[in-house]
Formats: sequence, C-alpha cells, structure tokens
Amino acid sequence: LNPYNLSRRELLIAGGGIAVTNLSIPALAVETTPDKLGKDLIFRTTDPRNGEPELSNLVKSWVTPTKHFYVRSHAPNPQIDVNKFSLTVEGKVRTPLTLTMNQLSQLPRHHLTATLTCAGNRRVEFNSEGKVGGVQWAAGPIGNAKWSGFALADVLKKAEILEEARHVWFEGLDEIQRTNVVIPFGGSIPIEKAMITGPIPGAVLADQMNEQPLSPDHGYPLRTIVPGYVGARSVKWLGKIVVSDKPSPNHYLAAAYKLVKKTDPIDWTESGPIYRYPINGAIATPDAGTVVPAGRLDISGYVLPTGLRDSRAQRIEISTDNGINWTVAKTTGQDSAFCWQLWNARVKVTSRTNSLIMRAFDSSGGFMPQRVPWNAKGYLQNSWYRLPITVS
Ligand code: MTE
Repeated sequence: LNPYNLSRRELLIAGGGIAVTNLSIPALAVETTPDKLGKDLIFRTTDPRNGEPELSNLVKSWVTPTKHFYVRSHAPNPQIDVNKFSLTVEGKVRTPLTLTMNQLSQLPRHHLTATLTCAGNRRVEFNSEGKVGGVQWAAGPIGNAKWSGFALADVLKKAEILEEARHVWFEGLDEIQRTNVVIPFGGSIPIEKAMITGPIPGAVLADQMNEQPLSPDHGYPLRTIVPGYVGARSVKWLGKIVVSDKPSPNHYLAAAYKLVKKTDPIDWTESGPIYRYPINGAIATPDAGTVVPAGRLDISGYVLPTGLRDSRAQRIEISTDNGINWTVAKTTGQDSAFCWQLWNARVKVTSRTNSLIMRAFDSSGGFMPQRVPWNAKGYLQNSWYRLPITVS
C-alpha cells in the first residue's frame, strides 16, 4: 500500500506526521479507486452490497463523503423510475395520500446533519466469545452526512392521523429473498417520535444526501432518516407509510434487530425492538497491529453520543496500560445534536504497551462499559474499544 514507492521516512512526512524522531504515527492517506457506483469501501459482501470504509478514511472529515459512507443492504438496489414513483400513506389516517416527488417537494424543506450507524457496528468483537451472525462489521458502518428532505410530521399532518395512531410503519421497495418468501425491508417508529417538528424533525423523508440526490446505494429516490435511532429504522427506497395502532409486523422490526441470547422463539418475543442507539466510539488511527517505537503517539477516532437530542460527547479517554491510567482526548469536529464527534489524542507508549483502549462518556449519562453481554446477532457492541499495537 505504498503506491509511490516512498521510503518509510518520506511516507511519514508525506502523511503530515511529525518525523520519525518525534515517534508519531500519522494516518497515511491511501487513495484507492471507487467502484462503479462511486464507493471506496471494504465490501464484506457484494451481492447484496455491504461495505464499510477504512477507518483512517472515515475520520478524515466531520461530514463523511458519500464515497466513504457505509452501505448496508439486505437485497440488490431496486431500479426505480422516479417519473413513475409515488409514496403512499395509509392506515389510521383520515386522508390516505399518494404523493409524487413533485408533490412532496411542495412541503417545507429541512436540512440537517445526522449520523447514521448500523446496530451491528463493531460486531466482530463479539466473535471471541462465540461467533455472531450477520455481516462481519468492524468499526466502520457509521457515517455523518448532510440530509435534506421533508418532515414526516408534515406528511402525517396532511394525511390527518386518527386518535388511535401509535406507530408509523415504513416499507421499502426492495425485494428480500427469505426462506420461502420475498419481503420488503421495513420497520416502524413510535408516533411521538414521528410527530416531532422543528429544525430537526423526529424523522425526515430525505431525497438528498451531501447536497446530491440520494445514490442508488442510499435509497434513491426517497428514504427515511430517523436521527437518534439505529440505521435499520431509516428505511431506504421508501414506498409506503402505514399509520397503525401497533408496531410494524415486518421481520426487521418484529424479529430481527433485537438483543437475544439464543435464536429461540421465547427470546424473540420477550425482547423489544431496538430503536435508540447507545453511545459508541472507536480508535480509527493508527491501524490495528501497527508497530510503533516507544514514545509519543498520535491517535484519532470518533464517538457518537447516545441518540438523544441533548446528548453530547463529554469525556473521551485513552489508556495505554490496560485501563489503569487514562488520558483525555480533544474533540476536533462540530458539536451538534444527533452527530458524532471526532477526537484526537497524543499518548505515551512504552515497551509494556500492547493495546490502546478508548472509552467515552456523554452528557445524558451514557458511557462505554468495559464489557457488554454477548448477544446472538452481535448488536450494540459499545464496550471499551481495544486496539492491539506492538511497541518495538
Ligand atoms: N432500507 C431498505 N429498504 N433495505 C435495507 O436493507 N438497511 C437498513 C437501513 N435501511 C436497509 C434499509 C440498515 S440495517 C441500515 S444500517 C441502513 O439502512 C444503512 O443505510 P446506508 O446503506 O444508507 O448506509
């Protein structure tokens, strides 16, 4: 991964780091070529498309460029002709609606920046206690993007929801092959969240990401964005909204995306759907397994506070001695509701250091615990992030 054949010293300088004598390891910018859909990701599966960025690319900017924004899809991208596209709104409403993109565009437009994260972020870390199912994600299925679209609450007001409305279902236009049936991806959110208005609505029907129309990987022409909730609630290729007195019966709300010990029917029924995400974070540079000289080392990463409007990253700490002493990291990104924070720190490593550990706390009482209980699907892994390194 040294395309210009530079010496290690030249690489250190080219990477913007402080030269060898300062014992600092920079994040080397490795430019790779995007695929035909413009993605520069490590694909865990290609059919369907499931890819996450290299962590050093992920933390280069507070707003994640679309090429480095993870993709999580359960089926191939559906081909949608926007001229024939319409969104239907039905169920417990006085006025069912069928809205074209032009009709949706008559509603007030909202712009917001929000982080999207997969509930399976950092799943591979569970495998040491027993292999977990699902896409084998490291710490990359997370990204912070600028979204633009229409408040779900405005659409629901137009449809005039009935007194008994409790949940809002979303249904995608994708076709997921399960054992004997083909189903769309779907889910729901509570009506209280759906009806939040203001600059950051409870949910947005987004048609733009990073100031461009959504790409096919991210749900073109329309998707939901639900700030504060795990990515699974932000349904891509949105085709239908149903207002109901019950949560969605779709597999991805009724069964999947739950914390269960075993894939046993009792566990599934006892456990509720995951909505809000807990605080999480990771060290993004240097790479795992890096060999560094003893001395000072610059490291960087991200932290996403609990998915609540007022929650902010409060203290990010790094340990080089297995959790005995902690150094406080500096935040470097913007401090915004429902967004991650980037951070960096300079720590001292010695010949006894075999890993770097990161943990964080937020203003709503959230913290990354030392351990989290194993669950069969490997969701919500937010324990202390441990990065193995070798000090030469
Ligand atoms: N929506 C549809 N229709 N189909 C999907 O497979 N995956 C969900 C969600 N919405 C999915 C979907 C999951 S699990 C996540 S984490 C996010 O989309 C990922 O969004 P992204 O691919 O735009 O990053």
